[in-house]
Amino acid sequence: MTGSTKNTNYLLGSSIGRKFLMGLTGLFLVTFLLVHCFINAMVFFDGTGALFNEYAHFMGTNIIIRIMEIGLFAGLLAHIIDGLWLWKLNKDARPENYAYSQPNANSKWYSRSMGLLGTLLLIFLILHLVHFWVPSRITGLAESAVPGVHDLYAEMFTVFANPIIVAIYVLAQFSLGFHLLHGFQSAFQSLGLNHTKYNALIKTVGIGYSILIPFIFALMPIVIYLRH
Ligand code: HEM
Repeated sequence: MTGSTKNTNYLLGSSIGRKFLMGLTGLFLVTFLLVHCFINAMVFFDGTGALFNEYAHFMGTNIIIRIMEIGLFAGLLAHIIDGLWLWKLNKDARPENYAYSQPNANSKWYSRSMGLLGTLLLIFLILHLVHFWVPSRITGLAESAVPGVHDLYAEMFTVFANPIIVAIYVLAQFSLGFHLLHGFQSAFQSLGLNHTKYNALIKTVGIGYSILIPFIFALMPIVIYLRH
């Protein structure tokens, strides 16, 4: 066995383990986004924000959810670190200088841009946590009309008064959509859950999820902005 073959085998073996973790944390984050989207969608049904505040209060105080929150941040961190590692691995392995390399014929641009899309999402996420998570969990928010329930809706109203912030949130949803478009199917493949019988279904659900969830998320800042 030559040195380079050994090296490839080592990288391949290692990268499969990494991809498995990527898929696992990715599907966990997909589930989180679904719940997050459902709870926030309460702003569409009640313009006073009371319904949303009530749901957010449950999520913020329920002990099981709070424990899962620790898992969420750990999963998010593992997904980011692992993603950066895989991105570097793919970059080093890509035969860019070969004349026969035809990236457009072999994969979609967003599949090759997971590192870039993920980085844009990370920037969005830092901004997003500063907007909501920090006041909600650390610096504190004013109480709503319901005693003991803090007014997270008022925070949304303040944040989304700024059209530039609204635009950043909406643009971030495009990154999210494309990131999910590749990530959803890829996760099933990495976990070995793909099967010829179910591949078409996984693909359809993946495309539906990747369009619908970012679309609903994008509507939130727009709707709140228009309520001013
Ligand atoms: C665009 C519409 C969105 C709105 C209006 C929104 C709103 C919020 C609010 C109000 C919170 C605070 C919840 C609380 O502390 O009780 C929060 C937390 C959070 N959001 Fe979003 N979010 C949006 C999109 C997203 C997206 C696209 C992601 C991920 C890519 C995301 C990831 C998170 C995370 C990780 C937390 C912290 C979770 C926790 O531990 O409570 N959000 N969001």
